[in-house]
Amino acid sequence: MIKKYAQTQAYFCLSCIILHYPKYPVFRNMGKITFIEPDGDAHVVQSEDGDSLLEIAQANKIHVEHECEGNCACTTCHVQVMEGDNELSEMEDAEANRLGMIPFMNFRSRLACQARIEGDGDLLVKIDPPREGGHH
Ligand code: FES
Repeated sequence: MIKKYAQTQAYFCLSCIILHYPKYPVFRNMGKITFIEPDGDAHVVQSEDGDSLLEIAQANKIHVEHECEGNCACTTCHVQVMEGDNELSEMEDAEANRLGMIPFMNFRSRLACQARIEGDGDLLVKIDPPREGGHH
């Protein structure tokens, strides 16, 4: 009886669950992101805590312009976060300053390379069409 009890304890060992916690997606922060492409196509993908919107789009073969390769030095990765902006990292000065350079910025604007997932809720993100001429 004691042996059986001990086995049960080991099976439900809290330390083991905590130790292996990151391995199991069911326990991780994973919401869904719906990316809307400029032509209206929608792609629903899994979000990944800590990753930028650009990284998640690229990992799922969704095209987002990124002329400066994610260095906050252009605005080609501009997206509009229609829902779930509270699931993203706070906007830092560099991103705000860069966004201030584009005339069509609005309160939904983020740079996909700078906005990182910090929650497990869902997002709706509209991708800008590629711009003609200068991309800055
Ligand atoms: S890729 Fe250039 S600012 Fe995001």
